[in-house]
Amino acid sequence: MVPSKREQFGSSFSFIMAVAGSAIGLGNIWRFPYMVGEHGGGAFIVAYLVCCLFIAVPCFVCESVIGRRGRSDVYGSFDRLAPGSKWKWMGFWSALAAFIIVAYYCVVGGWSLDFLVRSLSGHLSQGNPDGASVVFGKMATATVEPLVMYVVFLVATAVIVMGGIKKGIERFTKITTPMLFVLMVVMAIYSVSLPGSSAGVRYLVHPDFSRLDANGWACALGQAFFSMSLGIGAVLVYSSFMKKENSILAGGLFTAASDTIFAIIAGFAIMPAVFSAGIEPSAGPALVYETLPFIFAKMGVEAPVVSAVMTVIFFLAILAAALTSSISMFEVCIEHMVHRYGWNRKASTLALLGTVLLLGVPCVLSFGPLGGFKIFGMTVFDLCDYVCSNVFMTLGALAFTVFVGWIMKREDVKDELTNGGKLPFSNRAFKPLYFFIRWVVPPAILLIFISNLL
Ligand code: TRP
Repeated sequence: MVPSKREQFGSSFSFIMAVAGSAIGLGNIWRFPYMVGEHGGGAFIVAYLVCCLFIAVPCFVCESVIGRRGRSDVYGSFDRLAPGSKWKWMGFWSALAAFIIVAYYCVVGGWSLDFLVRSLSGHLSQGNPDGASVVFGKMATATVEPLVMYVVFLVATAVIVMGGIKKGIERFTKITTPMLFVLMVVMAIYSVSLPGSSAGVRYLVHPDFSRLDANGWACALGQAFFSMSLGIGAVLVYSSFMKKENSILAGGLFTAASDTIFAIIAGFAIMPAVFSAGIEPSAGPALVYETLPFIFAKMGVEAPVVSAVMTVIFFLAILAAALTSSISMFEVCIEHMVHRYGWNRKASTLALLGTVLLLGVPCVLSFGPLGGFKIFGMTVFDLCDYVCSNVFMTLGALAFTVFVGWIMKREDVKDELTNGGKLPFSNRAFKPLYFFIRWVVPPAILLIFISNLL
């Protein structure tokens, strides 16, 4: 196969901002806090850190190695690295997984957009704090409003992706990813200063291991994969645009560190306010959206202008975080369509947009009119989340690690990871990392996967 001319990220910084932007998203702001709430507070954070460092980082490295060496979409990269084998079918698996994630992830993206619109009208910052937590319930259970927001969010994602890597994804993520950090820190400081917030801080820092069962560990791993955008080829595809001189391991470690720090800061922005507002920490997916309006309304009582401005900026930031993530899922599907079926980027984006709606609409309505429609006891939205986090991402990550650890030649893996021996830190880290990739990560993933099925 003749290697195609491929766009590249302009610099190592751009690559990292795009990957970190994909990693930092609703997973950190919306999913992490309620997972912490459901699985025992600080104990879950410890499990999460272990999974992140020892399992997710090696997986990240594997995806990155395949992508940068294969220089194509998931299908094409496997086809180049293992010509004639069945590995290339991973391309379909990834595209399907990315498709399902986009469909339900954009529901939450739409909520953020809805809240941004509300904050622009002052609705959130000037209300009564005691009634603030019901705003979300009313919005999400409606029909037209969340659907409209969903479509707008989806179209925004499509427009950025249509611009391509340099003009679309790179230009956008370079600004929004750093901006997010600053905003979240400000929120955390405010949240911790609220009356009654110390119970929330205690909840986060005091690990109660008796509440962390096997399911908690499985969720911690699922969350680590979800949060670092692993297992469906998003890192693989972004890495295929990465320059040969950049360090894969540095990219993985930086992404893991920034993603985890961001999740913990988000935990501090949310949990103390949860306790301060008297909301149940295990309230599930609605947690953040019930808590935030409370914080802003409370802020609004003392400082209406500050609160109004903060609310807008904050929801703008969440929206940006959601977008930098949804574009990475979109990109996996688009790359697949462009390379596999030879469509152009624009046509692929439009086709994907239309198809996502088919699954997306039932996902949006899962919180309202379709709330009673259950498959295996779960709404369409919950089912998509469950299947993606527990099946697609885990098995995808398993396949990527087995491929790098057991199918690729050791010299090739080493060459890619150390840039031909030019990176001293990667040179030193290679041996233990490779050992992990072969002997620790695949059994750990399998174990957690099976225990989860049982
Ligand atoms: N990591 C993102 C978040 O935390 C979600 C995400 C983006 C993702 N791309 C992905 C998850 C690819 C899995 C796979 O919000």
